[in-house]
Amino acid sequence: MTSQMLRVAEVEVLTPLVKRFRFEHPEGKTLPLFSGGAHVVVEMEDGETLRRNAYSLISDPQDGSGYEIAVRREDRGRGGSRFMHTKVSEGDPLRVNAPVNLFALDLRARKHVLIAGGIGITPFLAQLRQLTRLQLPFELHYAARSRAEAAGLKLLPQAPMIQVHLSEEGNRLDPGAILAHQPLGTHVYTCGPEGLIVGVEDAAQRLNWPKDVFHSEAFLSPPPGKPFTVTLTRSGLTLTVAPNQSLLEALEAAKVEIPWSCRGGACGRCETEVRSCKGRIAHHDHWLEDAEKSAQTKIMPCVSRFEGEELLLDR
Ligand code: FES
Repeated sequence: MTSQMLRVAEVEVLTPLVKRFRFEHPEGKTLPLFSGGAHVVVEMEDGETLRRNAYSLISDPQDGSGYEIAVRREDRGRGGSRFMHTKVSEGDPLRVNAPVNLFALDLRARKHVLIAGGIGITPFLAQLRQLTRLQLPFELHYAARSRAEAAGLKLLPQAPMIQVHLSEEGNRLDPGAILAHQPLGTHVYTCGPEGLIVGVEDAAQRLNWPKDVFHSEAFLSPPPGKPFTVTLTRSGLTLTVAPNQSLLEALEAAKVEIPWSCRGGACGRCETEVRSCKGRIAHHDHWLEDAEKSAQTKIMPCVSRFEGEELLLDR
C-alpha cells in the first residue's frame, strides 16, 4: 500500500472526545483526490509499536490541498486514538496511506439517504460534498445523544436536507419513519454504532427494500483482550499477541507478509485460513459468514482474537 509522509497542518478540538486533524504535503504538493466514503490509514509510531488506524476522510474529495479526519478518543481501545489525541500536534510529520473507498456512493441511485450515528458521521461529510457538487438528491440524518457530544454539529452545513436528531432533546432518530416515504430507487447508507446499522437494515427489510440498495460501514476498532499465542505453518513462527495489539499488528511486527486495507474487519483482505484451532476464536469482523465463524476455519487477523490451547494459521 502506498503511503507518504504528510505534515499535521491543523488540530481542532470539536468536543472533549473528538478532534479534527488536517494533513498537508510538507512541500505543498497536491494529494491524490478521492471519492466520498474513502478512508486513509494513519501510521503512528507509539514507542516500540507501529499502529495503523483507518479513518474516513471528511474533507472535500475534490480538494487535493489536504486531507482531514476526525478522531474520537477511545480510552478503552488499544491506544491509537489516544495517541492521536495526546501525542500529535500541529507541525508533526505523520505517515498516511493513499485513500481507499469501501463505502462509495452508488451514483445510479435516484436518491441517497445517509443515516449517521455519533462519529459515524465522518464518511458522510465527504459524501455530502460530492452529492452537492454533482447536484444529486439526498438527505442526511445525524443522530447523537446530546448537543455536547455531537462533533458533527461543528462540521455539517445548515441545510434543509440535513436533519439532526438528539435523543436527549426528545428527537430520537426513527429509521422506519425516514425510509417510509422515499421514492423507488432510493439507496440508504448508514454508519455508526451496531444498533443503528441493524435498526436501519431492519427498517429497510420491513419496507421490502431490495438488499442491494442498503449500504453500511461499521466502525470497528480492533478490541484489546487477553494475550494469546499463534503458530504460523508457512513461516514456522510462533508469536504472542499482546493485550493491546491486534493479530495483524503482531504478524506485521514479525515481518510476516499479509495484505490489508480497512484494518477493521470489513474488506476481507486479511482473511486467513485456520489450520487447527483448539479453543475459541473471538470473531469481531463483519466479513465472514456466520457458518464460517462457527466452523473456525477462517480468521480476520485485523480484529479477531483467540482464547485457548492452540491456533495454527496458514501464514
Ligand atoms: S484488513 Fe479489512 S478485513 Fe482485515
